[in-house]
Amino acid sequence: MKRWLTVAVAVFTLALYAGVIVLGVRLGPQGMGWVGGAWLGSMFEPASLQHPWHVTPMSRLSPAKLHQVQYGWELFNETPVYGTQYTKARIACGNCHVAGGIAPYSAPMVGTAQAYPKFSPRAGRKITLDDRIEECMTRSENGSPLASDSAEMVALKAYINWLSEPHKDQAKFIGRGLEPLPVLTPDPQHGAAIYAAQCAGCHGANGEGARRPYPPLWGPESFNDGAGMNSIDKMSAFVQYNMPQNRKGTLSAQEATDVAAFIHAQPRPKFNHAYDKY
Ligand code: HEC
Ligand code: HEC
Repeated sequence: MKRWLTVAVAVFTLALYAGVIVLGVRLGPQGMGWVGGAWLGSMFEPASLQHPWHVTPMSRLSPAKLHQVQYGWELFNETPVYGTQYTKARIACGNCHVAGGIAPYSAPMVGTAQAYPKFSPRAGRKITLDDRIEECMTRSENGSPLASDSAEMVALKAYINWLSEPHKDQAKFIGRGLEPLPVLTPDPQHGAAIYAAQCAGCHGANGEGARRPYPPLWGPESFNDGAGMNSIDKMSAFVQYNMPQNRKGTLSAQEATDVAAFIHAQPRPKFNHAYDKY
């Protein structure tokens, strides 16, 4: 009987591995997320689909630059610990710009520095990288703007520049920005059922989030109603490729749209119009 059990467990484990590998091949790096994509991708994917994005090793940065990049890393990835002076949301920049800001299809910081200054339809003018960071500070982080010469702004820019810096020999980064889904008619009621079954376990029954790293999706500690994520289009595009975090790429475009519509209908903080210029 015991031996039978051992064999059953072994078969089950193998089946599980096979499933992961098949999924890895089928979904590719966007399906498996950056970390999964990096190691599974390197084994199974054609070179054109890999993301061989590398940054200058920290050991090669000057001491002054290293200090800025490290502080930027902390502010970006542990915002609710290091940035509370400026932010009210309990969400790290890196909770939306996933894997420290280099996961494809999550508005990564790769190539971002070079894209600015650029025209912003929201602001109706050309904006700088500073302005774009302030937009996420005042909207996505429900916080206040940083002084342009503050150690925090300098550090965030150093970190984004460090991630953005292209290297000769580097392949084009696939998955810049957010990949919009086809326009579908949302069904928030169906979204509520998906939320309860597939999201509440990590984000809480009332969207309140949980212990780090599980951020809130609505309520007083979430992003405000001026944030980019406060749109069904942007959230569904994010969710399709990045959520549920343990089963990325398993929702259909319709399901991602429905669950985003349900979340969109929940209460959240109001954008402070004193910061309208951002
Ligand atoms: C609630 C989710 C969320 C949080 C938190 C967040 N952002 Fe963003 N951010 C977005 C979205 C959505 C976009 C727009 C993506 C698009 O439309 O392509 C964006 C865009 C950006 C861009 C422009 C990217 C580009 O390539 O043009 C920068 C820079 C940026 N965010 C920095 C930050 C920083 C720094 C923080 C933390 C202080 C932060 N974000 C926190 C959601 C978020
Ligand atoms: C296994 C846990 C887990 C599950 C299940 C899960 N998430 Fe997440 N979610 C996370 C984590 C962790 C993050 C932070 C980003 C990261 O590290 O991938 C996140 C980030 C997010 C964000 C961006 C940050 C914010 O606060 O707005 C959204 C939106 C989101 N999840 C929506 C969903 C939706 C919708 C579902 C269900 C379809 C879902 N998540 C299921 C763990 C989970």
